[in-house]
Amino acid sequence: MTDPERLKREAAARALALVSDGMAVGLGTGSTAKHFVALLGERVRAGLRIVGVPTSEETRMQAEGEGIPLATLDEQPVLDLTVDGADELDDRLRLIKGGGGALLREKIVAAASRRMIVIADGSKRVACLGRFPLPVEVNPFGLEATRRAVSAVLARRNCPDDLRLRSAANGTPFVTDGGHLILDAHLSRIDDPEALAADLVAVPGVVEHGLFLGLATGAILATSEGLVELG
Ligand code: 5RP
Repeated sequence: MTDPERLKREAAARALALVSDGMAVGLGTGSTAKHFVALLGERVRAGLRIVGVPTSEETRMQAEGEGIPLATLDEQPVLDLTVDGADELDDRLRLIKGGGGALLREKIVAAASRRMIVIADGSKRVACLGRFPLPVEVNPFGLEATRRAVSAVLARRNCPDDLRLRSAANGTPFVTDGGHLILDAHLSRIDDPEALAADLVAVPGVVEHGLFLGLATGAILATSEGLVELG
């Protein structure tokens, strides 16, 4: 296993200690969450009784393969714990998520959870959010009008107007599990995440954005010097 993968697995293993019998657990998306789902699968096969709610079709397929009992969020509308990765986090546990395109379901699941624990390698910790492009999930209807409205928000917030429609590996537009598109905003830094978030959700074609504010309750960061826990 490469060093970054080993660190991700260490963070996932620490988060696994927070899971106990009877819990409803939100299952995140991405390469770090994938380690958590694999380790959780081992525990389930050894007798742990939990129900998982996946945040993407990709995670649902992995969890099914691991033999983890699953429910929908409608069947299990309040979750004890969600464990998910992040593209960036600051010391106030504000996050950028959505690099894997699952931000909408990830945010709905996080908001339905009593605790949301971020697992990541230490490189994801930043002093100021924004180096990672901010995903903005939009309805395909009226894409150009929505793109202009998002550009206007960025101009008002003194951010660079660099919005790029995300592509899939085959060069066609990336389509989310919900059938939406993603505009990635290359901003370099976000000085006021709360203000930007409020402006973005006010744009009618915007379905969700990747700023997760006030949702994470803790973070487990694996570094080469050991585990760092926030929150
Ligand atoms: C997916 C996400 C992921 O949690 C985020 O992209 C981090 O992924 P990884 O663990 O692969 O770095 O938000 O939408």
